[in-house]
Amino acid sequence: MPPLGHICVLLLPLLIIFHLRPVNPVSIPAPRPYYQPSTCNGFAELCHKRYDEVCFAVTHNAFAVAPLVDATATIMKSGVNQDPGYILDYQLEDGYRGFKVAVWRNKTGEVHLCHGKCENSFIFYDAGPFVNFLTTIRRFLDSNRNEIVTLFLENVANLDVNTMASQFDAAHLTPYVYVPPDEGPIRWYTMQDMIVANTRLVVFMDRHCDITQQPWLLRQSMYVTQNNYRNYFPEPQFFNCEPYPNPRSDRRSLTLLNHQLNILIAEGSNGMDDVYKPDYYDRLTTNSLDSIAAHISTCTNKNVQVNFVSVDWGASGQTIAAVDAYNGVSRPVKVRSYDAVIHEASRNISSIMERAMRSAHRYVEKDSLMIGIDTLLKTLGVVLGMGVWGAFTILMAFGRWW
Ligand SMILES: *[C@@H]1O[C@H](CO)[C@@H](O)[C@H](O)[C@H]1NC(C)=O
Ligand SMILES: *[C@@H]1O[C@H](CO)[C@@H](O)[C@H](O)[C@H]1NC(C)=O
Repeated sequence: MPPLGHICVLLLPLLIIFHLRPVNPVSIPAPRPYYQPSTCNGFAELCHKRYDEVCFAVTHNAFAVAPLVDATATIMKSGVNQDPGYILDYQLEDGYRGFKVAVWRNKTGEVHLCHGKCENSFIFYDAGPFVNFLTTIRRFLDSNRNEIVTLFLENVANLDVNTMASQFDAAHLTPYVYVPPDEGPIRWYTMQDMIVANTRLVVFMDRHCDITQQPWLLRQSMYVTQNNYRNYFPEPQFFNCEPYPNPRSDRRSLTLLNHQLNILIAEGSNGMDDVYKPDYYDRLTTNSLDSIAAHISTCTNKNVQVNFVSVDWGASGQTIAAVDAYNGVSRPVKVRSYDAVIHEASRNISSIMERAMRSAHRYVEKDSLMIGIDTLLKTLGVVLGMGVWGAFTILMAFGRWW
């Protein structure tokens, strides 16, 4: 055997060892464990759908929950939007995955969730620090790895983006936020992709967005088309698919249906807004399968996918079932012990509310009568004033003659 062969045989193990040694250890990516969710927002069928191909049930003013004690009084006097005792935890448990909230500051400057001004406790409602609400969302996302939640912030307090972001930081919620690849994207990722990336919180805000500073606080008008929310009993005339406020505006990649019904308590006068409250008395009709399905069909008739159905009184009616049916999935109806309490409370309330609402309707009539009388008196005043002024002028004229 030639000595060269011997050398080769001797070198071979060395070569192998040398070859196996990583040349540049940094360039070899560590194998990433690929997380594979078995379900997405509760259903395997939704995993391969894009975020914009799924419909989510949303509670409007999710924080404004009527208390169980004195529920009737609170519903009658203040701007609560959700059933007695139907706190955020229960809304999440039942399947609500979108939450509309109004962010205010209270009198001492703390960031609170309120319906109407925090400082006016007569017709409005202060639900406490925003960070408490966000902490509940964070706990839910922590313990439900396959769930995506969407928030709609009404930034009534005009907080700048960094102050708003600090609220999310304080609730340890920031790691979950989703940043889309471009503003007002026409492409959304699949539910599964968002869950795998663990970016499971989509946050829209109505004003003062600045994506150069907080790219996850998304300008709602760039992404979401919604219908008019000024629907009053008895005619929910805007339960349609028309973009609001401008019916001719371009559709965004997501569509939100406002399916809340209000009841007018007093017509606005002298530059004041109308005073209205969520219509508790008609909630079972408003949130019925038929009513929600009919509203959804105003969009599907135009080939528009609905992504959010927003309701008051989320514990009443069949919002979850209606949204599930539209998504092509279904879940068993949940029976919880607190339901009995809610139903008893709402039975009590509905009989009282029936009377209250009747008198409210009369009040509205009386109020328009008052406005009429007011206008009449003002007109009379002007006419009288002009008469006096005229008489005075004439007298003065005569005076000069004399
Ligand atoms: C504002 O909220 C804080 C808690 O967030 C509370 O301690 C304070 O009393 C509130 N101020 C008013 C005027 O209600
Ligand atoms: C409903 O009314 C009955 C009788 O007026 C009362 O005993 C009961 O405590 C009320 N239930 C609730 C939940 O308010």
